[in-house]
Amino acid sequence: MSINYLDRIPNNVNLSEDRTLQRALEHWQPNYLKWWQEMGPESSQAHEVYLRTAVSVQPDGWAHFGHVRMPDYRWGIFLAPQDGQRKMHFGDHIGKDVWQEAPGEHRANLRRIIVTQGDTEPASVEQQRHLGHTAPSQYDLRNLFQVNVEEGRHLWAMVYLLHRYFGRDGREEADALLERNSGDEDSPRILGAFNEKTPDWLAFYMFTYFTDRDGKFQLSALSESCFDPLARTTKFMLTEEAHHMFVGESGVSRVLQRTAEVMRQRGIEAPDQVRAAGVIDLQTIQRYINFHYSVTIDLFGADQSSNAATFYSSGLKGRYEESKRTDDHQLKDRAYSILTVTNGELKEVEVPMLNALNEVLRDDFIRDTVAGVGRWNRVLEKNGIDFRLQVPHKAFNRQIGTLAGVRVSPEGIILSEEQWQAHQDEWLPTAEDRAFVGSLMGRVTEPGQFANWIAPPVIGINRQPINFDYIRFN
Ligand SMILES: [Fe+2]
Ligand SMILES: [Fe+2]
Repeated sequence: MSINYLDRIPNNVNLSEDRTLQRALEHWQPNYLKWWQEMGPESSQAHEVYLRTAVSVQPDGWAHFGHVRMPDYRWGIFLAPQDGQRKMHFGDHIGKDVWQEAPGEHRANLRRIIVTQGDTEPASVEQQRHLGHTAPSQYDLRNLFQVNVEEGRHLWAMVYLLHRYFGRDGREEADALLERNSGDEDSPRILGAFNEKTPDWLAFYMFTYFTDRDGKFQLSALSESCFDPLARTTKFMLTEEAHHMFVGESGVSRVLQRTAEVMRQRGIEAPDQVRAAGVIDLQTIQRYINFHYSVTIDLFGADQSSNAATFYSSGLKGRYEESKRTDDHQLKDRAYSILTVTNGELKEVEVPMLNALNEVLRDDFIRDTVAGVGRWNRVLEKNGIDFRLQVPHKAFNRQIGTLAGVRVSPEGIILSEEQWQAHQDEWLPTAEDRAFVGSLMGRVTEPGQFANWIAPPVIGINRQPINFDYIRFN
C-alpha cells in the first residue's frame, strides 16, 4: 500500500501495471493542471506554501509537511487498504462479497453518485479562488491553500474511479468535471450550494464548517458502499476532510473570540458600535450561520426520495456509521418521521424509512453541527457575553423537498410572504452586511500578524509556532 511518488501520477494502486489506464489519466492530468491555473487559487503560482502531502494511507504518520510551490503539489490517487474479507453489510445483498468491479445493473446509479460527489470538489476550489487576496494572516492563507489542494486531490479520487471502472462514459464524465464551473450561467456545478459565492473569510469559515461537514457525511455514507473501490477511496478522503472542518470551526471561534474581547474591553453591545470598533457584530455572524446552514442542509436532497431507497437497497450508499448500527440493515418495515406542512402548520409524519434516507443523513448532520455551535457559544460565555448563537429551524429558507418555498422563521413559525419580506433582512445576510464584512478584509502578510477582526489561533500547524513562515512569497 505504499505510495509511489516516482510515477507522473503518485498512487498506491499500481498504476504502472495498467498502461491503458495510466495513459488515460496522464492525458487528463494536463487538463486538470490547466483548470488549476485558470480556476484555482488566484496569484498563488509563485508562493511556496507549508503544505501537507499524503505519504501513506495509514492513520498514523500519513502526512509529510514541507514548503511546496503550489503548482508543484503532487496530486495523486490514494485508496485505503483493501480488506479481502469484506462482505456486503446492508441492503438486499447482505452477506455476499463486496463488488470489486462496477455491477452492471447499478452502473448508471453508481456513476451518478460518483459524478455528483466529484463535482463538489473542484466547485469549492472555484468558489474560494479570490480569497488569497484578503487573507487575515499567513497561517490562514496556508490553511486556505491546504484545503484547496486537497479538494483538488478529492477530484482526482473520483476521476480515478470514473476512468478505472466506467470506460468511455467515465472518461467523458471526468472531462465534464473540468468543464462545469461554479456559478457559471451556461454550465453550473450540479448542486446549489456549490454555485453560491464565497466572497469573504467569514463566508469561508462558515463554508468549511457547514458545507465541508456535508462532505464528511456524504463521504461517510459512501465509505460504507458495497462497491469496494468507492468505499476505500472515500475512507481516505475523510482523513483529509477533518482538517477542512477544523479550519471552519476554529475560524469562526477566533472571529467570536476577537469580537467578544472588543465588546468586553469597551463595554459595548449594539451592532453599530461593534462594527465601529472594526470587528464583526454577533448579529451578522448569526445571519451568516442561518444562510450557510440552510443552504447546506438542502444538499442532502429531498426528504422523500425513491433514489435514496434504491441507492441503499442496492448497496451503493449506506447510512452514516452503518456498521455501528444494530438494526437489520434492510429497513423494509421501518418508519421515519419527516416534517410536512399540513393546514398551514409544520407537522411530523411517518414515512417508510427507506424513502427517507436523505432525511436520516440530514438529521445526523444536524446533530453534529449543533454540537459545534455549542462550542462557539462557550467562547462567548467565557468572555462574559450573554448573546448565544443557534442554528435556525430545519424548515428555514429551504429550496429542496417538502419544505421548499414554505416561508418559515428561524424559530420555526410559518409566515406569510409579507411577513417573510418584512423580516428577512434580520435573518439572512444583507448586501450591507456583506459590504461591511468585505470592508474589513485586507491582506496581512507579516508572519505572526493577524487582521484586527480575528484572534490568533491557539497553536500553529504541525506544532510550528504561530509566527512561522507558512508562506514564502516569491
Ligand atoms: Fe472534498
Ligand atoms: Fe473538504
